[in-house]
Amino acid sequence: MDARAIIAKVRRHQTPSREELTWFANGLADGDVSDAQAGAFAMAVVLNGLSEEGRVALTQGMRDSGDVLQWDLPGPVIDKHSTGGVGDCVSLILAPVLAACDTYVPMISGRGLGHTGGTLDKLEAIPGVNINVTEARLRQITRDVGCAIVGATGKIAPADKRLYAIRDVTATVESVDLITASILSKKLAAGLESLILDVKCGSGAFMKTPDEARTLARALVDAANGAGCKTEAMITDMNEPLAPTLGNAVEVAICMEVLAGNKTAAPRLYDLSFALCVRLLVMQGENEDKSIGRVSRAIASGAAMERFAWMIAALGGPPDMAQDWHTHLPKAPVVGAVTAPESGQVAAIDGEALGLAVVGLGGGRRVETDTVDPSVGLTEMVGLGDQVTRGDPLCILHAADEDSAEAAAQAVRAAITIGESGARGPLIIERVE
Ligand code: URA
Repeated sequence: MDARAIIAKVRRHQTPSREELTWFANGLADGDVSDAQAGAFAMAVVLNGLSEEGRVALTQGMRDSGDVLQWDLPGPVIDKHSTGGVGDCVSLILAPVLAACDTYVPMISGRGLGHTGGTLDKLEAIPGVNINVTEARLRQITRDVGCAIVGATGKIAPADKRLYAIRDVTATVESVDLITASILSKKLAAGLESLILDVKCGSGAFMKTPDEARTLARALVDAANGAGCKTEAMITDMNEPLAPTLGNAVEVAICMEVLAGNKTAAPRLYDLSFALCVRLLVMQGENEDKSIGRVSRAIASGAAMERFAWMIAALGGPPDMAQDWHTHLPKAPVVGAVTAPESGQVAAIDGEALGLAVVGLGGGRRVETDTVDPSVGLTEMVGLGDQVTRGDPLCILHAADEDSAEAAAQAVRAAITIGESGARGPLIIERVE
């Protein structure tokens, strides 16, 4: 097989055969495919698509590029995955909540992708945390704690690990085929019984319109169910950041507030995390009212917070994260308000531009070798429909230095439209079964 011939087929709008895509996936994992070839393949797929058959073949090839886990645990093995957004840190809440509800969540996650934040980058904002664990350690933490949020190991979906990093820096994220293969290769390799997908839709998502989100949700749900994993999707609003906070350490801090039961710190983040947890329990056959009660108790009793802290300690982080998160999380040296240039209502928020502002602050990568500054970001962000008076803060900026703070402040002002009226749409737009 020859990577060039496979790339050329996609470039000519032809679908490579199942064997060719399987070979390509293995080549990503073992290095037979070079970075340049992987980038060219990704761009060809973004531009021309792969066809449904090719998408399923690539997904299965990437899943099988490493081990596929099997579990023998005293409860269901379940998970959720988001297609990527800004201020979306649901995973850090959902995994420990579900662990506290007697289910098991081996969550293989990703880093920042394009303008979106990554769960692994957020976790690594906690000093000492190491998400590069062996498969044996992933199994042990999942069994002991009930949840383990880790990176794709060398053995689980290694093809995605490589292609994901290349897509992040080659403007090749927005593709139903590549997103499906990326998400499902990891999730199917994790040996899940049920999966819920949070398909983001709006200015801060890869899918900007409900129609695009529906197409992606359908592709994901069909491919995952076809591969034997009970899967549903929720299409959810991303026309503003999910939490009023964007960045790595600052998103961990907001999750700690939610796990401590402080819903007002991030009401939309709280509501969506809650709804996804409940739906996953319902997918396991549990009655909805009972599921709502279990999720409420997991948070109110402190059990979910305890699981989170236990997982962090198991990953090498501080043992007292539940009590002392403020002292452990890194803080940026330059902190200041970005003020509203005029009075009015927040009419539109360009989530992608905000995400890129955080990348510009150093909170994400422009090239693969960039190191992420965990301390930078935006907090106390205004929401759609909020009334502001000229000079009021639109958000608080956390930066490494004055120059990057000024550039980010300009980007934030440009990303927020103040007009005569603004309104927030529903958080959960629809469910796809
Ligand atoms: N999340 C992933 O894991 N992969 C994508 O391509 C997009 C979101």
